[in-house]
Amino acid sequence: MNPALTNFGDRMSRLTGVRAIMKDIIETLRSGKGQEFINLSAGNPVILPEVEQLWRECTQQLLSSPEYGEVVCRYGSSQGYKPFIDVIVEDFNSRYGLNLSDRNILVTPGSQSIYFYAANAFGGYNSQGNLKNIVLPLSPDYTGYGGVSLIPEAVCAYQPTLDIDENSHRFKYRPDFNQLSINEDTGCVIFSRPCNPSGNILTSEEVQKIADLASPYDVPVFVDSAYSPPFPALNFTDMDPVFADNIIHCISLSKAGLPGERLGVAIGNEDVIRVLEAFQTNACIHSPRYGQAIAARAIGSGALSDISVEVIRPYYRQKFTILEATLNDAMSKDLPWFLHRGEGAIFAWIWFKDLPITDLELYQELKKVGIIVVPGNSFFPGLQQEWSHKNQCIRISLTATDEEIMEGMKLLAEVVEMVYRKAMLAV
Ligand SMILES: Cc1ncc(COP(=O)(O)O)c(C=O)c1O
Repeated sequence: MNPALTNFGDRMSRLTGVRAIMKDIIETLRSGKGQEFINLSAGNPVILPEVEQLWRECTQQLLSSPEYGEVVCRYGSSQGYKPFIDVIVEDFNSRYGLNLSDRNILVTPGSQSIYFYAANAFGGYNSQGNLKNIVLPLSPDYTGYGGVSLIPEAVCAYQPTLDIDENSHRFKYRPDFNQLSINEDTGCVIFSRPCNPSGNILTSEEVQKIADLASPYDVPVFVDSAYSPPFPALNFTDMDPVFADNIIHCISLSKAGLPGERLGVAIGNEDVIRVLEAFQTNACIHSPRYGQAIAARAIGSGALSDISVEVIRPYYRQKFTILEATLNDAMSKDLPWFLHRGEGAIFAWIWFKDLPITDLELYQELKKVGIIVVPGNSFFPGLQQEWSHKNQCIRISLTATDEEIMEGMKLLAEVVEMVYRKAMLAV
């Protein structure tokens, strides 16, 4: 059967960004033909025994409580399961000195759905036929933002400035406030902090500045806090969430051990929350309640924030340290490679300046020696400008074992050296 697709159908039935390359990765791993691969591409968090145990215990408590039937055998409100909402309100108010009420909260099936609702409620064509943009203030950013809008031309990203430390082979992206434009044509702003893929963390001042630029136009700013404190607290440098009237702080339970349960929360302005809630009612009625009921226990007891700081963060920070040390040893000092400062999240991001081949070709070369990374070009959704940098980066996941990361970085160094040397000889 080949049913005719609408424009939206065509748009939403395509695999965008990293999903497209993931198909190649899965096929490569499946058809391995005896070759063992070191997979440094995974986006799935590692199952850490302490974290799994926490969720198991919370599930056991739920199973043996009279609440069980109420949680799984009934529909609930679109806004979310009341005990979970109450716990979020209490936790954020006491932790950050806020004055939230339940009207500031929406629970969603994963945080990605928040960006889908927001991108289509505030971005796209309005009743006057004007295009309202979904602004990504610092590119690269989460590849998923490339697929959130039903109107692809609405997604509009900005090239950053680069802080480069030549001697230590490190760099960091900064938003370019000389270019960034937020105005009456802006529908909403979205960015991740900490950032997938780069591990960058925008400073509080930068976040406030973006919110201040958006405020005169009543533009909501969605801060994708999937890696942020208090859970999963995947920040390796100090950071505090920033709250303001037009900031919607979006959290996810995925990197805190519940990706399969699909649990996200939008926290912020009541009027914005109401729009998103209605969108959710139309799309899927409400988020599943089982995840909310067990998360209410894990957050209410303080166990989730404790385990985030004591187990989840040190685990990934240690992986980054190993990766950094191995790269420092293995990579030639003469080559222009630059590791993004590892400020958070579960990835390392490397830029190869003037790389003689594309990131996709490098990905293919690396596959030949048995390592799989993610080519960087899919992390620039909405960035229209030509910029060679887009094809000079790779993302490496910190979910592999220590040995795999060490071995993988040594092989990477050999391949990269070969690629640059070959190009030099050809000149
Ligand atoms: C930055 C970022 N935002 C959102 C998501 C999606 O998270 P969720 O599982 O809550 O939908 C991810 C998943 O990897 C992510 O990296």
